[in-house]
Amino acid sequence: MKGILLAGGSGTRLHPMTLVASKQLLPIYDKPMIYYPLSTLMLAGIRDLLVISTPEDLPQFRRLLADGSRFGLNVAYAEQPRPEGIAQAFLIGRDWIAGDPCALALGDNLIHGDHLSALLQDAAGRQRGATVFAYQVRDPERYGVVSFDADGWAAEIVEKPAAPRSNWAVTGLYFYDSRVSDLAREIRPSARGELEITDLNRLYLDEGTLHVERLSRGCAWLDAGTPDSLLQSATFVQTVQSRTGMLVGCPEEVAFRMGYIDAAQLAAHARGLGKTELGRVLLELAEGEHA
Ligand code: G1P
Repeated sequence: MKGILLAGGSGTRLHPMTLVASKQLLPIYDKPMIYYPLSTLMLAGIRDLLVISTPEDLPQFRRLLADGSRFGLNVAYAEQPRPEGIAQAFLIGRDWIAGDPCALALGDNLIHGDHLSALLQDAAGRQRGATVFAYQVRDPERYGVVSFDADGWAAEIVEKPAAPRSNWAVTGLYFYDSRVSDLAREIRPSARGELEITDLNRLYLDEGTLHVERLSRGCAWLDAGTPDSLLQSATFVQTVQSRTGMLVGCPEEVAFRMGYIDAAQLAAHARGLGKTELGRVLLELAEGEHA
C-alpha cells in the first residue's frame, strides 16, 4: 500500500503564523507538524509516500524529507496549485498511485494511542473497500461526522453538519482500495467548491465497503488547525514524552522500530540532532537502553 501526505491549504485559521510559513511545518512541541501523520503512515507499514503541497511550500517539504531514505522510505512530491479539496489528492496522485491501494493522511492530524499500529496494519491489509477512523469529540460540527444504526453499522456520513447526528468525527486518516483514483473522478465539487473526502467515503459507504473503526478513549486524536488545537497538541506531546521518556510522532524512532534503519543509522541521525533532548532519547534507543 502507498500513502499520501496532504499538506496543502492556506492555513487561514492560523494567520498570521501561516502567512509566510506552511501550516504543516509549524512546530508541535519538538517536531514539525508533518512528522506526526508521517509517523502514523509508517506505523501502518507504508514506505512509498507522496507529499502534496502548494507550489510555494513544496520546496520546504523537499528540504525536510528529501528522498525519504533517512527514514527508510521512498518519498515523492506533487503540487496542489489551489486548495480544491482533500479528495483531489487522488487525482493529483493518480499516475503515482498507478492502481495500487492508497492511504491518505492529513498533514495536521495527530493520532496516538494504544494498539494503534495493529489497527493501522489491519486497515492497510484490507483488500477491498475503505477504512476510516472515528473519534468522539465535543464539537462534531467542525468535521466529517459518521452516525450509526441500531446494530452499530455506519449509516450516514456528512461533512460539517449544522445538526450532527452523532459526536463521532471522522479523523484525517483514510485507507482506500485500488479503485480510489477512479472513484475520486466521480466526485463533483461541493457548495464550498471542494472535492470533499466525505463524498468519496460516501461512495464506499453506499456500496457497503466502508469500514469505520471507532477509536477508543485510550487514543488521542488532535488536529492542529487552530491556535488552540496547536497549543493543545504541543502540550499533549510534551506531557506524554516528558512523563514516559517515550516519543510521539518521531519518524526516526518508527523507522528503527519497524526495521527500516539499523542502530548505526539511528545513532547517526540522533547525533545530527545535536544536543536536543530528542537527539539524546534517540541515541539511547540506538544504544539499546530503551530496548
Ligand atoms: C477535513 C475533512 C473532515 C475531517 C477533518 C479531519 O476537514 O473535510 O471530514 O473530519 O478534515 O481533520 P477540514 O480540515 O478541511 O475542515
